[in-house]
Amino acid sequence: MRLPSIKNINVKGKRILLRADFNVPMEKGKIVDDFRIQRTLPTINFLRKKGAKVIIISHLTDGRAKSLKPVAEYLSKRVGGEVILLENIRNYPGEEKNDKKFAKQLAKLGDIYVNDAFSVSHRNHASIVGIPKYLPSYTGFLFEEEYKNLKNTFKPKHPFLFILGGVKFGTKLPVLEKFMKIADKIYIGGALANNFFWVKKIDVGESLLDKKLFASRRIKKILRNPKIVLPIDVKKKNSVILDIGPLAIKELSLLIKEEKFILWNGPLGNFEEKGFEKGTMAAARAIAGSKAISVIGGGDTIAAIKKAKIPLKKFSFVSTAGGAMLEFLAHGTLPGIEALTQTRFRSKTF
Ligand code: 3PG
Repeated sequence: MRLPSIKNINVKGKRILLRADFNVPMEKGKIVDDFRIQRTLPTINFLRKKGAKVIIISHLTDGRAKSLKPVAEYLSKRVGGEVILLENIRNYPGEEKNDKKFAKQLAKLGDIYVNDAFSVSHRNHASIVGIPKYLPSYTGFLFEEEYKNLKNTFKPKHPFLFILGGVKFGTKLPVLEKFMKIADKIYIGGALANNFFWVKKIDVGESLLDKKLFASRRIKKILRNPKIVLPIDVKKKNSVILDIGPLAIKELSLLIKEEKFILWNGPLGNFEEKGFEKGTMAAARAIAGSKAISVIGGGDTIAAIKKAKIPLKKFSFVSTAGGAMLEFLAHGTLPGIEALTQTRFRSKTF
């Protein structure tokens, strides 16, 4: 599927309604990590240089940091020329309800809609799926990059290793099932691995588990697949598993060296706690040093890489998406992609 790109359209003098994802971590009104904003700047600058008037829509998840003011200040220093940033769109109930009237009102602010918020495009919200019904709609550069690089994981070079860590088994299960058909090996770490240990009747003590999910047949099928690799040892705090163990680190590092393609989502342990970061840090270093094409994503994974002080350019592609990445990997599309490609304004040229 080809996305409708902004590259070839005439935007001079047009009002561009740009959906960006500036949902960035903030502390005491200061931006802690500007990765997502940085990655959106090429689209903003392109539109500005081509003579468009840019009106940006974004959201913040965190209830304690409801204002996008720090982002507005950031943009005023980094963007040449004027852009307008609307206040946190989730302050309006119509956004999450995908209210038609609200989407129409938003659409009136622009002549063209551009989605550069791949990382929010798993949400059926007005600013993602509603506006494209009323405006000619296109994708920004970051959106295109996310789409292209994540799609590459469906036709990877082999051997292909998928490393899946983290906690939320429910959101990772569909991805796991899909990649059992594509990957050569799937290494499971983090709290996800505890579930497998538990079913294998390995003592997990008080470790985090998702017992409800284990009632399902789907999980048992995964367990029978020989592609699944579990850590051979673990590191515990009292009776709680918090990291993969030293032997597992060695084994995983060797595995990484053999690969031509690596997809990584989710830390392998509780890397924020001192003494339990080793597995995640070792994986990050091994992937950064390998010759394999590497695609990584998920907020926690990137936070871990930053903690390991590894420059992001050491990886082939670092996704800005978390939940959207998992959903795209599981289904090959997102509500925001469908909305753009099905818009009735698609053929209208400017
Ligand atoms: C994210 O951080 O994954 C996106 O900005 C989406 O945020 P949300 O989970 O609040 O929809």
